[in-house]
Order: sequence, then structure tokens, then C-alpha cells
Amino acid sequence: MKIAIMGAMPEEITPILEIVGEYKTTQYANNTYYEASYKGCEVVIAHSKIGKVFSTLTATSMIEHFACTTLLFSGVAGGINPSLKIGDLIVATKLSQHDLDITAFGHPMGFVPGGSVFVETDKELISVAKDVAKELDKNFQEGVIATGDQFVHDTKIKEAIVKNFGADALEMEGASVAVVCDALHVPCFILRAISDTADTDASFSFDEFMESSAIISAAFVMKMVDKIIE
Ligand code: ADE
Repeated sequence: MKIAIMGAMPEEITPILEIVGEYKTTQYANNTYYEASYKGCEVVIAHSKIGKVFSTLTATSMIEHFACTTLLFSGVAGGINPSLKIGDLIVATKLSQHDLDITAFGHPMGFVPGGSVFVETDKELISVAKDVAKELDKNFQEGVIATGDQFVHDTKIKEAIVKNFGADALEMEGASVAVVCDALHVPCFILRAISDTADTDASFSFDEFMESSAIISAAFVMKMVDKIIE
């Protein structure tokens, strides 16, 4: 097994690199990949840069070029479900692209022919997460995550995303990574800690809590790696 551990921003993978300790750095396709042997298991760590295009490139590179066989994503998200507070964890059971729009042709939001509105994540990895949550006494919510190339800071947009997808949280990479994993038959796990609630003050909340929430998510994902390889 070779595990890909992905984030979008440097702050999302720095805590992971700190836990792993020693690694080799490889440049590939305009990005930096950190390869390590963590407790005897091969891992490849990278931050993709923000958005669906860069995260698609990184997820594909990790699978096709670095031969990763499982992918775990760790990072932050804007909360939509009012029960999600800053620092809370959400695990995606399925994800959608909230900005994919050919409704002009009668299709639902998030749908293009040959695709599907939702892409599911791996149930076994969610079950590993449940075991970790029990051990750490740190709960997470399971739910729908909506992904788009947009930092949402507007209640009206949030409401439209809830109406279209029943989403609990939103971010900018999860669905594209899940689509890659689904197509290439690689188990996928998307974890996010809440940094803001996608309202008018979202950018301030994000600046204040992004780093601390990224650390919460990274610590949890590394406990999952421990569990997967034990
Ligand atoms: N990631 C964290 N907060 C977000 C927001 N409000 N919109 C999009 N992506 C995010």
C-alpha cells in the first residue's frame, strides 16, 4: 500500500510533514511531492494549490505517477450545516461540484452527461475514521460536501448550494479529487475541519482559524494512517 495524503494549501500539509519528519522532495508537473516511509508505510504528501483544476492534477499525479493506492485529503471547509462549529470535523460521504452549470440545457446543477451529480467516497475508510474518533474521543459529522472554484462568503450562495445539493459544508477541491479517485478505482477519503461559515465575515474567520483547523484535520488524518497501517 502507498498512501497519498493531500491538502490544497501549504498550511494543510505542514502539520503532516512535521509528524512524518523525514522525507524526500520530488518536483513533478509544477508541484512539489514529499515522499516518505512513515512507520514502514510509503506515503506521498502534497498540497495541490487551491481549486478544482490544481487538485485534479495533483490527485491524478499521485495515483498515476507516484503509484498511490489510497488517497486521504485533509484540510478546511466552510460550514453550512448550522450544527458545524469552527474546528469541527466533517467527513464527506459524497461530494458534488456546486458550480458545474449546464442547466440551460435542462440538466440539474452539478450534472454533465457521462458524469453524476454526486460522487461517493470509500466506506471502509469512513469506518476507519469512526474507530479513530472513538479512540481519540473526537467526533466528526458525516455529510455532503459541495466543491466549487469560489470562496463562498454570501448567505444567498450558501442557501442555493443547500437547495441544490443538501450540502453540509463547502470547499474548493474535494469533489474533483473524489472524481479522480472514482475513475481510477482508488479509495478516497475527504476530511475537513471548519474554518468559517461561508457568510459575509467568512474571509476574516478563515484568516483567523484556517491554520488551527488545518492542524485539527491533519492530526486526525495521521491517526487514520496509523490505524490503516497497524
Ligand atoms: N474553504 C474554507 N472556507 C471556504 C469557503 N467559505 N468557501 C470555499 N472554500 C472554503
